Amino acid sequence: MTPKHYSPASSPAWLALQTAANNAKNINMAELFVAHPQRADQFSLHVGELYLDFSKNLFDDSIWTELLALAEQSPLQSHRAAMFAGEAINTTENRAVLHAALRAEPEDANTEEEGKRIAQVKSQLQAVKQASTKIRNGQWLGSSGKPITDVVNIGIGGSDLGPKLACAALEEYAHPDINLHFISNVDGAEILTTLNKLNPETTLVAVASKTFTTQETLLNAKTAINWFKHNLGLEQPQNSSHFVALTANPANAMDYGIPKEQILEFAEWVGGRYSLWSSIGLSIAISIGFDQFEQMLAGARDMDLHFQQAPFASNMPVILALLGIWYSNFLNIESTAVIPYCERMLLLPSYLQQLDMESNGKATSLSGDPIDHNTGAILWGQTGTNGQHAFFQLLHQGTRTVPVDFIAAIKDDLSNDEHHRVLLGNMLAQSSALMAGQPAPEGQQHRYYPGNKPSNTLLLKRLSPKNFGALIALYEHKVFVQGSIWNINSFDQWGVELGKKMANELLGENAQTTGFDPSTQALFAHIAKNS
Ligand code: F6P
Repeated sequence: MTPKHYSPASSPAWLALQTAANNAKNINMAELFVAHPQRADQFSLHVGELYLDFSKNLFDDSIWTELLALAEQSPLQSHRAAMFAGEAINTTENRAVLHAALRAEPEDANTEEEGKRIAQVKSQLQAVKQASTKIRNGQWLGSSGKPITDVVNIGIGGSDLGPKLACAALEEYAHPDINLHFISNVDGAEILTTLNKLNPETTLVAVASKTFTTQETLLNAKTAINWFKHNLGLEQPQNSSHFVALTANPANAMDYGIPKEQILEFAEWVGGRYSLWSSIGLSIAISIGFDQFEQMLAGARDMDLHFQQAPFASNMPVILALLGIWYSNFLNIESTAVIPYCERMLLLPSYLQQLDMESNGKATSLSGDPIDHNTGAILWGQTGTNGQHAFFQLLHQGTRTVPVDFIAAIKDDLSNDEHHRVLLGNMLAQSSALMAGQPAPEGQQHRYYPGNKPSNTLLLKRLSPKNFGALIALYEHKVFVQGSIWNINSFDQWGVELGKKMANELLGENAQTTGFDPSTQALFAHIAKNS
């Protein structure tokens, strides 16, 4: 079935799942484990050093069969093949979606064209290798001849979140003498307070922007340029060794004054929120070294191969996607939480918010029609155990059901046995308590835990670059599977355009507010009067 003629809601499996959902209040997970003692084994799987237990979810065998049928009855297989083959599946922008090519090896190529593409990627990554190695070795010198000690990545959205998350998550591998800083918000206090703590002689700015047109990034870059001018007396700091550009638009970066040899390019077919694998990942390579950066790519590639080759029933991204669809479309659950039990993964929920909500927050089908079913869920989260002392109250006793992805590393060389045992013990206790619940003691309804709350548990053997790469690719493909079944374009982001355009109207010289609503006009006037 081509996407044009497909609507998930008219597939037989969708109708069967609707019927099953009407009886879903009878599903009791604890009872399912008693009836099927092998359930934990049946609904768990390994991919490399990642282990997923999805047995604590609100489904029985027949629902699982129908969810798999839903995937089979959708264009998922052909859509997946089209993505990996480089067809223009981003239809509204007429672009291929090839972030997987950024981690592919020459032997993955099925055609001459794919082989050429992989060679092009390898040569662009070679530039990342050269720059990062020179910086790490102290051979990249500032304008006064001193080695770089601080790298400031200026970028936003996908040009910030992936590198920032990876550098934090992989701190164990970080260069001891080079500090990474990430500036994203146009809030001047962020960049000014950061720069004021740095020595301009030993600071390198990486302007990371796929388009090199993003308002926030260009204003922050301008502020950085002025900071260098003021402190080092350079006339054109962007033309010095203190600046590099990471972009798919080298012409704009050159217009900005950044020398060609300091522009690290990547291809237009890399979506912004899928770009940490490209030269946008320069800061990651600087932090952990290019060999470890390659390990991150290798882990993602392992997940790509698994996603392409494993049958749906044992395909980790497909499994996570189908569970999300079951909750969103059939049990009318609005949100999902991601709780890493690892402080270094604090930024994972923010990263996944862009990946998931910018990709699947859509209401138009691939054939251009309004969608009549739910699409992307609201994703949120925080680390455990911190979340336990904040919002877990609602998870256990609130009126809503929020499926949780618990994520942890089994071993952590930065921690010690005692801490890590307590950390993992807490995570296991939470997922078990959410499912088991507890009856209220006589007359103490406030102590009632309803239980039967679903969760996945995803264990990484350790938080290595390879396993981190596999984890991120797992969620990328989960988002892809959901978009394919929902029949939406997961690769554009038109939703952000209107606000950008209206901000420009308010910011232009002699800004006119006449076209704006009365509330906004009054707020504008209030700010003008009080500033
Ligand atoms: O406005 C959304 C967005 O286009 C994201 O998709 C992207 O990651 C971000 O802006 C930054 O874009 P750029 O890398 O082109 O500066």
